[in-house]
Amino acid sequence: MKLVGLIGWRGMVGSVLMQRMREENDFELIEPVFFTTSNVGGKAPSMAKNETVLKDAFDVGELKKCDILISCQGGDYTAEVFPKLRSAGWDGYWIDAASKLRMNDDALIVLDPVNRKVIDAGLAKGVKNFIGGNCTVSCMLMGLGGLFEHDLVEWMTSMTYQAASGGGAQHMRELLAQFGSIHAEVRMNLEDPASAILDIDRQVLSRQRGMGPDETKQFGVPLAGNLIPWIDTDLGNGMSREEWKGGAETNRILGKDGGSRIVVDGLCVRIGAMRCHSQALTIKLKKDVPLDEIGDMLESHNPWAKVVPNTREDSVRDLTPAAVSGSLTVPVGRLRKLGMGGDYLSAFTVGDQLLWGAAEPLRRMLRIILE
Ligand code: HSE
Repeated sequence: MKLVGLIGWRGMVGSVLMQRMREENDFELIEPVFFTTSNVGGKAPSMAKNETVLKDAFDVGELKKCDILISCQGGDYTAEVFPKLRSAGWDGYWIDAASKLRMNDDALIVLDPVNRKVIDAGLAKGVKNFIGGNCTVSCMLMGLGGLFEHDLVEWMTSMTYQAASGGGAQHMRELLAQFGSIHAEVRMNLEDPASAILDIDRQVLSRQRGMGPDETKQFGVPLAGNLIPWIDTDLGNGMSREEWKGGAETNRILGKDGGSRIVVDGLCVRIGAMRCHSQALTIKLKKDVPLDEIGDMLESHNPWAKVVPNTREDSVRDLTPAAVSGSLTVPVGRLRKLGMGGDYLSAFTVGDQLLWGAAEPLRRMLRIILE
């Protein structure tokens, strides 16, 4: 059995990964070794077989014993430990949720329902570093993979509605604390049917604007009852890093470069959802394809993409973060030809950013290596 080291398994993405690995009986196929940055010598979780104590995640000697390492510990950890491991001669497989190595020449972004061929070609060439993609990109490709597979996309814009979880666990807590504080401010008035809504609105605004640094430590500004039209760093050219990733990673996942690249661009916006990223897409098709054929292409591409009929009833029921959270299903709806012409398609998709957006591609890559 392959020795598989797990790092960062207790964090938010790591916990979702552990849950999915248990659900799919992945632990039966491996000999897991649990690493820690804070509790060396502590008891490993029950899935451990022979290695029942936690090992030091900074101990290159211990890490080197593993055939495969899976890290959800974050980019700083990768930056510190990965180069040391490779320069110490470690030749194992590195599977990582962090973005740090994504664009490296010797790494591939993994999303096997979409790019299994690229992964297989990489494995055949000896690639050993497999990195999970940006959550928004992965969720979009799981929903729209059929259009890319049929080479129908000339260009695409993606306007995102990204959940708090994309920032991390503390961001989710901050969002909820803000909601609570706003509600507490207006609760009395809200319970009084005779109160004036514009008074309540003024109280809400005053609470939002009055939030101190402790209440907005993660997002910098209130997110509850608000939105933030910028995600990740400022690249200095009017673009956020998250927006840059949309184009760069989509093409990299699809294995496209040079003249075959597809322009994917848009605006990334944080909203007060918990863990599902949604996106509104405008797609310029290479030709006018009937909507029913498009629906068939999307649904037959992978078992998780699900077309939601473009009706009010279906959309409000099935095409929301609350409906999709915790599920691997990636619904795609609001499919219609736009007023610009038959080769302009609109779509709206929602994906759980902790599942397809983070944990799931990693455990599936482990399975591919074990095949
Ligand atoms: N950058 C994403 C976000 C998270 O902030 O929503 C993970 O790719």
